[in-house]
Amino acid sequence: MERLQKVIARSGIASRRKAEELISNGNVKVNGVVVKVLGTKVGSKDVVMVNNQAITIEEFVYYVLYKPEGYVSTTSDEKDRRTVLDLVPSEKRIYPVGRLDYDTSGVILLTNDGAFTNLMTSPKHNMEKEYRVKVKGFLRKEESQLLSKGIKIDRYITKKAFIKDVEYNKNNETSLATIIITEGKYHQVKLMFEAVGHPVLKLMRTRFGIVTLDGLRKGEHRRLKPYELKQLRKDS
Ligand code: URA
Repeated sequence: MERLQKVIARSGIASRRKAEELISNGNVKVNGVVVKVLGTKVGSKDVVMVNNQAITIEEFVYYVLYKPEGYVSTTSDEKDRRTVLDLVPSEKRIYPVGRLDYDTSGVILLTNDGAFTNLMTSPKHNMEKEYRVKVKGFLRKEESQLLSKGIKIDRYITKKAFIKDVEYNKNNETSLATIIITEGKYHQVKLMFEAVGHPVLKLMRTRFGIVTLDGLRKGEHRRLKPYELKQLRKDS
């Protein structure tokens, strides 16, 4: 159920302010009855009419995509690059929840539910994000500790992080590591590793909350399952 003015605004026929005006002025009917109370809740089974024209109440949809490298996670791109929306065809006006860099692969959620997006991306909510990262050089224990405790990137100190499963490749002098963070600052993982002298060569998000890439190949997507949605909301 959603507030009437929000439903009207989301249908694209009026701004939220204009929708409120339409309601107060008696231009809106719900199931044939004029409703003037702002904040009246309606669901997908209700028939909402504005000036005697029915509007469609868009149902919320939620997807997880295994984003490949080479896609931007915006709905359009000024450089005309491919976007994640090219991989998730939908009649609904969906958009990505948060961002992954152009050259980052992995889990990205998409939805048309703004409240859900806010829950998932708000810094207050500490949603866990897990990344597998390949960096230049050998990541030492002390450096992992610095990253775990919190490190300065730009003018910001990162929150506690968790580093595990560090592996070295002696042939090309690189390291692989898993890092779990609860924030989503711009280029956060890349900036964190750069701050300890290990530029990121490859980055993949392997988990967002409880949602992993299990069962998906690069470029594939699926609907989130009801239990996943429930758990994501609970964890936020
Ligand atoms: N951190 C980054 O640096 N890039 C991403 O795409 C995600 C997290």
